[in-house]
Amino acid sequence: MCGIIGYIGEGDVAEFLVKGLKRLEYRGYDSAGISLIAGGLISTVKCGGNISKLEKKLEKVEFKDAKLGIGHTRWATHGEPTDENAHPHTSCKDEIAIAHNGIIENYKTLKKMLMDKGHAFKSDTDSEVIAHLIEEFYDGDLESAVARAVKSIEGAYAIASIHKSEDRIVVACKSSPIVIGFGDGAMFIASDAAALVGNTNKVVYLSDGEIASVMCDRIHVRKLNGESVNKQVKRLDASLSDVEKGGFKHFMLKEIFEQPESLSNLIRGRVRGNSVKLTLNVNLNSVSRIIIIACGTSWHSAIIGKYIIENLIRVPVEVDYASEFKYRNPIIGRGDLVIAISQSGETADTIGAVRAAKQKGARVIGIVNVVGSTISREVDGGIYLRAGPEISVASTKAFTSQVLALLLFALYARQARGGVADNQLLNEITDLPNMVDRVLDNAKIVERIAEDLAQKRNFLYLGRGINYPVALEGALKLKEISYIHAEGYPAGEMKHGPIALIDEGFPVVFISPKDGLYDKVVSNMEEVKARKAIVIAVINEIDENVRQVADYIIEVPKTSPLVSPIINVIPLQLLAYYIADLKGVDVDRPRNLAKSVTVE
Ligand code: M6R
Repeated sequence: MCGIIGYIGEGDVAEFLVKGLKRLEYRGYDSAGISLIAGGLISTVKCGGNISKLEKKLEKVEFKDAKLGIGHTRWATHGEPTDENAHPHTSCKDEIAIAHNGIIENYKTLKKMLMDKGHAFKSDTDSEVIAHLIEEFYDGDLESAVARAVKSIEGAYAIASIHKSEDRIVVACKSSPIVIGFGDGAMFIASDAAALVGNTNKVVYLSDGEIASVMCDRIHVRKLNGESVNKQVKRLDASLSDVEKGGFKHFMLKEIFEQPESLSNLIRGRVRGNSVKLTLNVNLNSVSRIIIIACGTSWHSAIIGKYIIENLIRVPVEVDYASEFKYRNPIIGRGDLVIAISQSGETADTIGAVRAAKQKGARVIGIVNVVGSTISREVDGGIYLRAGPEISVASTKAFTSQVLALLLFALYARQARGGVADNQLLNEITDLPNMVDRVLDNAKIVERIAEDLAQKRNFLYLGRGINYPVALEGALKLKEISYIHAEGYPAGEMKHGPIALIDEGFPVVFISPKDGLYDKVVSNMEEVKARKAIVIAVINEIDENVRQVADYIIEVPKTSPLVSPIINVIPLQLLAYYIADLKGVDVDRPRNLAKSVTVE
């Protein structure tokens, strides 16, 4: 949530900052701004609205001889997305500017204390207190002033700060990421490594409680107690094509079409013959219960994981919303294994749940996409998805990779617990990229269905068993990007309530693979058809029953039930995408949302 960028070195600082902000725009797009040091003064340009609005404003501004600057794109928490509330925020004397991600929980107390000392505030944000605090503590050394300021702060933060008389950017973080990139005579700062791709592949991830001075040719990192830290420079393994649209109209469509590749990246080196190789750092023999924690789309993959794991290793699995887990004082014992699933690895609720589980002595593994993210650093072991950057706010390729990672985990656990290999499953897993390709070949069919249904106001998604969470995911995709109300339900539950919604022309999407529950789902189709609903059926092969009841049929390859969610969700991703695009909304940046939700 929110994006921070920073640059120090030769070249056009403003241009770099704006380019970086565009890459980070998926993290928040309510308002944006930049602050540069030019001619010994801080110059700030900011506004409500997205980055193109900021660019317009910048056309009229010249920053002479700027050597460093910071920028921010915001997802509003405290205060409306106005010009005043946009970051960077400056101190009273305009000598200091800061950009902040996170939430300052004690900002009201700090603000009152600062106002009593004569500080005048210009915005309604919690973040502005940081600029004033730094000013209050500043005595010629920005790093020390930032260190003192963050010691007064309660809550999460990633901060980039500058002072008009200092040739450095000072950054600090706690529960919100900061990455520093090494260039040739220049250094970069970002809250997300995706913003640095193409500029450098050498990066350092700041850890919680660290503070760094970033100069144009070096960095100095220390802990808040003053102790110096020697950071390891890591390789950033992403290319420009990963973070650009590559000819697709939107990132979401590109990411849907990347799924054959993202799935094969996940499998590579991990499925060998009839065995699965993972490095989890956890003894799976002694596990007697598994708890999966996640949010949003990742929570949907967690429910699918419950079906997969219980089926393959017969260990009971509980699934919890990460946002609930931490606050319900969960019962965790010695035999429990916690699995945290998160695309970003930065979701505040999931980080909180991981910490709560660890505090209670649980072993925690992560299924995470973003390398070096907070969750990936805090868990005992885990599986990286290797799906590449997911830029669109609506998660697509990360979801299918999460489900596949859960399958690999369950197969690996089965091996570790002495179970026999499931060769059919392993063969299907290896063939998944091909099967997904075949589904994508039918995208045009889904696009035509979208054309007929884009004006509908409500949708119902129904599935059973392992495909019930697929119904949830289909509904979430549609509502988050098209703003059409959609509900996912277990098909068997429809008769206990939702059937009351059905009337003429109501679209009902059925996920109905040819499995043990197929006939029952077809009966549900008949029930809604009898009430004149529009039936859209995702099925494996057309038979007479379906032909008679379904208005639209999307055929997908038949697989074992445990693999089927990965295939069945793809038409639903496409349907949501095409409907949203037809409505002319901003598909990649849906209103009120941000890619990673770093506030509770
Ligand atoms: O990065 P995470 O997987 O932890 O994110 C969890 C949710 O915020 C995320 O899946 C959200 O629901 C997406 N917008 C869904 O498309």
